[in-house]
Amino acid sequence: MSEWLNVSEVILQEKSPDLLSPEGAQTSNPEGARSSSPEGARSSNPEGARDSALEEMPGVYISTYGCQMNVNDTERMYSLLEMVNYTPVDSPEKAQLIIVNSCSIREKPVHKVYSEVGHYKKLKELNPKLLIGIGGCVGQQEKDKLIQNQPLIDFVFGTDAIDELPALVGRALEKTTNKKHYRELKREEKEVLTGFQHRAPYHVETLVRNPGVATFVNITKGCDNFCTFCVVPFTRGREKSRPLEHVLRDVQALTQRGVKEVTLLGQNVNSYESLCGADFADLLARLASETDLQRIRFTTSHPKDFDQKLADVMFRHQHKVCEYIHLPFQSGNTRILGLMNRRYSREEYLEKIAMIKRAIPNVVLSTDIIVGFPGETEAEFQDTIRLVLEVGFETIYAFKYSQRPNTKAALFEDQVPEDVKSDRLARLFAAHDEMAFPLVKRYEGQILQVLVEKAEDQKGKWSGRSTQNKSVYFLGGENLVGKMVPVRITKAFPAVLRGELALPN
Ligand code: SAH
Ligand code: SF4
Ligand code: F3S
Repeated sequence: MSEWLNVSEVILQEKSPDLLSPEGAQTSNPEGARSSSPEGARSSNPEGARDSALEEMPGVYISTYGCQMNVNDTERMYSLLEMVNYTPVDSPEKAQLIIVNSCSIREKPVHKVYSEVGHYKKLKELNPKLLIGIGGCVGQQEKDKLIQNQPLIDFVFGTDAIDELPALVGRALEKTTNKKHYRELKREEKEVLTGFQHRAPYHVETLVRNPGVATFVNITKGCDNFCTFCVVPFTRGREKSRPLEHVLRDVQALTQRGVKEVTLLGQNVNSYESLCGADFADLLARLASETDLQRIRFTTSHPKDFDQKLADVMFRHQHKVCEYIHLPFQSGNTRILGLMNRRYSREEYLEKIAMIKRAIPNVVLSTDIIVGFPGETEAEFQDTIRLVLEVGFETIYAFKYSQRPNTKAALFEDQVPEDVKSDRLARLFAAHDEMAFPLVKRYEGQILQVLVEKAEDQKGKWSGRSTQNKSVYFLGGENLVGKMVPVRITKAFPAVLRGELALPN
């Protein structure tokens, strides 16, 4: 039995009276099975029952920073907290529990946490029972320092402790609420749960409260690549993959609840390896042929692990696997790539792109770029611009290099001045805009397959995404949410496309 099952049991056993799970509430266990919470988990304490009636369904507000993994973690937190009777609210003012799900990838992340929590001072004065917790990558990184520096924070939990959140909140409530009396947590009572479950296998059932048309499914966690600029290996721990059968079972369950598209998530999905030996290409092929999904997306890919087998599987299953790849290159210069520990050269990256374009002729590419990495010269920066233009990326996500704690590059001596970084970033975006504008114009007049995610109004305006991951807004038709429809593009902008439902002739 794995540690994760124990976590579920702890959640059920350690609930305070205010944290009773609703009748028939579901809890996750590591085998991916769902099970009803046992009757016996309910408190028989009438005092507690009265309290919980008074505070029925306390509100929880989670503010989310960072990547899709954090977005998915927030959904998991809401799901777990709902199982113990919390109800999500849309503003901190309505909440009894506020969680900041933080990101530390770039620029003053710790300040952002302190500044957000500082805004909640008034709320805590008005409602002393309000609990404030910090989760995510800043929580993982800063640990008890957060509590030392900001007394408004009641607990901190790391990226591997999400499933322990209901129990953690329950313990905090038990300490602060004694019958009708409330008291603040003392410093030494505030919990910091930031250990990594190093030995436990990665077993996590996807939890989604109200799955829409498209949703995320984690397939790996952590990262072993240690790019010298990046904090993720320290904030997410060692890389682990979920067993293929668990992912399949999860996705099947999601399709039964109406999901048509999943995005498979991991810091480096290409190095996915199931216990049974299956690799990422095998997983894609099985999902495409054995589930009712209409579309499969994935992010993020690492160039060193993106191989011919994967490109071939994508093409073979192109009716389901979207012909869109996000392939971060970070720098177009081989010396800088070496200093970054990316483990490919400029030439190798370009060869990968050529291989992908041969295998998937209609592929659309996007990328991540860092400018102003320590020691980057103007000529080396120009290599980055040239690579962007040569590949023809439709979208780029570019960032100024930011020194991160624990990372090797933070200690490199020749840091690039801030104004030089800003200037390079502006020039990179300008060069890309000039190249990409005519590129997106080609969509005008084309008919794209759009999976409709939302009705924008009552009068027949819809939105969804094309296989190329473009947001499309269009007019026409009825009851289209969840359907794959052909849309004729009438106007193309860099970030969105406008169009109309293409009626059959
Ligand atoms: N696993 C993904 C990246 C996750 S972080 C990958 O390997 O591509 C998302 C992006 O943030 C990175 O691709 C990188 O471009 C950027 N980034 C990471 N650390 C950074 C830092 N210290 N400064 C600036 N940008 C950074
Ligand atoms: Fe960070 Fe590199 Fe891992 Fe991506 S592959 S998460 S950039 S260390
Ligand atoms: Fe940020 Fe952590 Fe994601 S640092 S980008 S939230 S993995």
